[in-house]
Amino acid sequence: MALVTPNVDPVDVLIDPRTGDTVAPGLVDRRISFTFDDVDPVWTPLAPEFSCAANSVSLLMPYIEPYFVKSVRAFVDDLEPELAAETKAYLKQELQHHVAHRAFNDQMAKHYSGVGRIERGMKATIDWLRTRRSDQFNLAFAASSETIAYSAARWAAERRVELFSGADPIAASLFLWHLGEEVEHKSAAFDVFTAVGGSRRHYVSSMILSMILLMMFVAAGTTTLLWHERRLFHPVAHVRLWRWAIPFAFEVLTNMVMSTFSGHHPTDFADPSFYELWLREYDPETGTLPVWNGR
Ligand SMILES: [Fe+2]
Ligand SMILES: [Fe+2]
Repeated sequence: MALVTPNVDPVDVLIDPRTGDTVAPGLVDRRISFTFDDVDPVWTPLAPEFSCAANSVSLLMPYIEPYFVKSVRAFVDDLEPELAAETKAYLKQELQHHVAHRAFNDQMAKHYSGVGRIERGMKATIDWLRTRRSDQFNLAFAASSETIAYSAARWAAERRVELFSGADPIAASLFLWHLGEEVEHKSAAFDVFTAVGGSRRHYVSSMILSMILLMMFVAAGTTTLLWHERRLFHPVAHVRLWRWAIPFAFEVLTNMVMSTFSGHHPTDFADPSFYELWLREYDPETGTLPVWNGR
């Protein structure tokens, strides 16, 4: 795979020179060929705690992303053709994400016992939401969760050198590709939510619930994986995790609050340019992205 070095500041944004607006790239249906057979579960050896936390997020994806897809797809037939087309492109991206994370998680399961219990908890929770809450609430959950996903992507872009340097290139590509597409489609579910007259009360309550569930499951998963890696009682592990968690919480909570303001649209958020520049190198012929070399 080719090497590229996006020579950009992580907080740069792409600006349309004519309008001064943040550029919103179109949604691309990337089919990435991942092979996880040789991936070490601690795929960031310079920051092993990050692997544990990221793998915990990965555990949730095969449950929560199909839930997003079903929740949004329920409204596709009600949309104008242009928005319906954008929405279908969004759904394709989310489907690709959870398929890739399922394959990655299956590889992780060979190394870790005990994650099955956490996955069963995730499945039961998502099943409960899907079957017991209204279609409108579920759509609001998908739309508001995209704000959290965007915030995670922005947080990771700003500290990508620390987090991903020396990482296994396949696992790093999985997470960076996913985060990059979360930035790309940050508006998609929100546009559907707005088009069908979604309730602000649902938006706020579902966003708080989504954040609580994310924190709960990531805490459970990270604790389990740290224990497996014999780092649960390592002081450095906790210092690092808190050093990442505090700015993460600040990033997410700020964006969550901003997203509840009247007139807010996700395009109001500035995108980190790193992902867009890196994803441009996607080769549809081979289904590959360039190895990111840590800059
Ligand atoms: Fe996703
Ligand atoms: Fe998403």
